[in-house]
Amino acid sequence: MSRFVKIRSFSSARSLYSNLTSKQLNFKQCKTYVLQDNLQKEALLLDPIKENIPFYLSYLGYHGLKLKYIVDSHSHADHFSASFKLKDLTGAKYVMHRSAPAPRVDHHVVDGDILEIGDNKIQVIHTPGHTPDSISLYTGSELFPGDTLLIGGCGRTDFSGGDPTQSYESITKKLFTLPDSTRVYPSHDYRFNEVTTIGHEKKTNPRLANKSKNEFVEIMENLGLPLPEKIMEAIQINSSTVLEDQIKLPTYSQLNEVKLISPETLKELKKDKESVLVLDVREPEEFEDEKLKGLKDTVNIPLRSLVTNVHQFEDYKNKTIVCLCRSGMRSATAASVLSGYGFENVLNLKGGLLNYYSS
Ligand SMILES: [Fe+2]
Repeated sequence: MSRFVKIRSFSSARSLYSNLTSKQLNFKQCKTYVLQDNLQKEALLLDPIKENIPFYLSYLGYHGLKLKYIVDSHSHADHFSASFKLKDLTGAKYVMHRSAPAPRVDHHVVDGDILEIGDNKIQVIHTPGHTPDSISLYTGSELFPGDTLLIGGCGRTDFSGGDPTQSYESITKKLFTLPDSTRVYPSHDYRFNEVTTIGHEKKTNPRLANKSKNEFVEIMENLGLPLPEKIMEAIQINSSTVLEDQIKLPTYSQLNEVKLISPETLKELKKDKESVLVLDVREPEEFEDEKLKGLKDTVNIPLRSLVTNVHQFEDYKNKTIVCLCRSGMRSATAASVLSGYGFENVLNLKGGLLNYYSS
């Protein structure tokens, strides 16, 4: 066949001419993938873990690859992401879904966006359910679903805003519509499997094959899995720029005690400027996001420097403090920390500014 045959579709273009290869880089249950263009020497790292940073850098250096994108498929609860550190070390762009709570994300993607590695187009598919910010990457013949779809399973839906109904829709209406031959490389496997296909999972996945939405939800709501060790520590650190020694991170139950406030109630409360302090705990550079501007009459103290600045709010010990951030994750930590310092009425803006501006 002529090399210059007309390209008929995205997937055939890739299978005929692609220089894109992928490789799994961790030797454990948490998987990190590198997608690399071997001609133009560009690479994307998916779900890098903190303890393997030297190995990733060696791999990239040995193969002469320029790291273009670092992608977290979702906010991880079971390990510490390497993304902040790798971004600083390499200058690569950090990519997450628009609803991700983390600061310092350079490129917020939504469903249908394309990431280019060399001439290869990698499609972003928003697949919420395991978490609200879960994305899958699709190259035209390979799928990297994060934790949304696992080999013979799927990501749990019982924490971090997980939703079994959304998970079912993401898998059956999006991922299962890809060609059966699509090779699938999940971000976890607990049984030493490496790859599956869409066709195989459609036929054999015990949670999904011939299961209705209701049956799937019933299964997911009765898994009875223990919470991962360090779950709240990992979520809070991966969703902020705090370091372990900058702040004593609240526990799961302490975070659950934080009272929430709706955007509507906050708008009402803000009318009484004397008795309410609104505290925005985002990083200063996040104020450049035109769509998530800071509110009027607020104080900005990033979460990482909250403890050293707590004396500033002494006058509000018996008044109301409303904490807010991008999605409500970091501000929950801030609210819990302030309650621990004896502030009596600390509230967290539910869903953060993403929710405030959409409601
Ligand atoms: Fe996960």
